[in-house]
Amino acid sequence: MASGSIGIQGIEALHYYVHDLDRTRRFFVDKLDFVEVGHSGAQLEQEGRQRAAAFQAGEALFVLHQPVGEGGRAWRYLRKHPEGVGTVVFDVEDIDRAFALLDERGGTFITDIQRFKDDAGTLAMFSITTPFGDTTFRFIERRGYRSLFPGFVATPAAAGASNRFGFERIDHLTSNFQTMKPALLWMQHVLGLEPLWEIAFHTNDVAADPTHARREHGSGLKSVVMWDPASHVKFANNEPFRPFFKESQINIFAEDNRGDGVQHSALAVTDIVGAVRGLRARGVEFMATPGTYYDVLPERLERIRVGQLEESLDVLRELEILVDGSEKGKYLLQIFLKEAAGREHDREAGPFFFEIIQRKGDQGFGAGNFRALFEAIERDQANAR
Ligand SMILES: [Fe+2]
Repeated sequence: MASGSIGIQGIEALHYYVHDLDRTRRFFVDKLDFVEVGHSGAQLEQEGRQRAAAFQAGEALFVLHQPVGEGGRAWRYLRKHPEGVGTVVFDVEDIDRAFALLDERGGTFITDIQRFKDDAGTLAMFSITTPFGDTTFRFIERRGYRSLFPGFVATPAAAGASNRFGFERIDHLTSNFQTMKPALLWMQHVLGLEPLWEIAFHTNDVAADPTHARREHGSGLKSVVMWDPASHVKFANNEPFRPFFKESQINIFAEDNRGDGVQHSALAVTDIVGAVRGLRARGVEFMATPGTYYDVLPERLERIRVGQLEESLDVLRELEILVDGSEKGKYLLQIFLKEAAGREHDREAGPFFFEIIQRKGDQGFGAGNFRALFEAIERDQANAR
């Protein structure tokens, strides 16, 4: 089977399908400080049967779509799933080459190449189905074309998309599958990605403590990261890991999402302490980290050979920022926002959430935190008894 890059240059945008565009706009603009850079024109809304608005922070771009009547893409997605990421848009170098390679390798096309032109340049694109549930991939070759999309209207004075929290770009996407092998093979053989890294983790093996021997619950996952070596686009992929398949957080996601799909998107920053402080001041909610995580953090940092951090442990504890790494002086700092359903107190807002990540030399995804967080929760529960 042929492999190799189809010429992906990066993730241009994520299309996020929602019931209530104004509600999600408030979150992106008022909480995360994304800038609204454009919206759908009347003709596009009529033709596509959906209303759209685009939000940018650094290079990270999200396009929100809300159904207008029935039959459009957003309506069809939301008929099956709660709100979530339904389309990933990639920039490619050469649209004809990308199309030909995907065709040769068994890609399934939703559209042929569509070509558009304005006074400044051209835009060409096509879409394919994927094994990521009902999430589709769109590939775009953009050569000077002004508008984000034909029929899109740019918001005046939204030229700069600088973000007060320093969001720079999408660092990675993480997706959950009930079984991920078909998706991994597809990413490798159709999309031309390569395996980068993998791990299996189960809370059932956490402790040698004999009280854990007859554990009657737990959560496990297997995770494989695939990447495009040329563009460094990374997909982390998870599936549930026995025992207690049903209790795995990955299976719970698949049930809440009513199928496989994108679980989270990580936004890269260069000052996570400042970012999280600012986001908390605006009322953004994060997944909680027990204080006991920090009690043992110095020992853990020695054990994983990271050693001293540049940041104060007191500040990390105060803000509940997580740390992981595997080499001296190289680490990452990360934190997860509350998932949309919890944030909006609405199950139909879906299980998608954001991560914020600052890389200080470590290229992993924070796998060590699965275990560290689980152990911290266990210690917390033991202390409460
Ligand atoms: Fe992540």
